[in-house]
Amino acid sequence: MNMREKIEAAAARYPDQRSAIMPALLIAQKEYGHLPGPVLEEVADILDVERIWVYELATFYTLFHTEPVGMFHLQLCDNLSCMLRGSEDLLSHLEAVLGINRGDTTPDGLFTLSTVECLGACEMAPVMQLGDDYHGDLDIARIDALLDGLRAVTAQATGADFAASAPPGA
Ligand code: FES
Repeated sequence: MNMREKIEAAAARYPDQRSAIMPALLIAQKEYGHLPGPVLEEVADILDVERIWVYELATFYTLFHTEPVGMFHLQLCDNLSCMLRGSEDLLSHLEAVLGINRGDTTPDGLFTLSTVECLGACEMAPVMQLGDDYHGDLDIARIDALLDGLRAVTAQATGADFAASAPPGA
């Protein structure tokens, strides 16, 4: 099934096509990796809805990406509970070890670092979302172990030495 067929199948479950915009965006993002303008227009055309409605949802929710993201998208919550439990220090550490600022992607395309609104998991603050998984009760040691694990798995899969691309002192 191609993307259009998947979106049409999903949209058939909703009486109002506007209600199908979010599932359609998820399908499109899975297909393209992110949601640039032409993809948003394609989604709007398939659903036969106003393009502005698609654009508004795609740019409001942090689960949608209008810009390309790395293989691993680190989404660190910086709202109150997480901030009180050290998310600012974790963000500084992530920026230092990855050699990028919030919102950027590492040159090797491996990691994108973002901060996001409350992930609804305050009981395990500070929390970071990675793919569909939440990692909670984070500290610097756990962050480092997580990054090392991701680099190791990727190196094993690709044969690349991502540790070599880490910034000095990382
Ligand atoms: Fe971070 Fe709620 S404030 S998960």
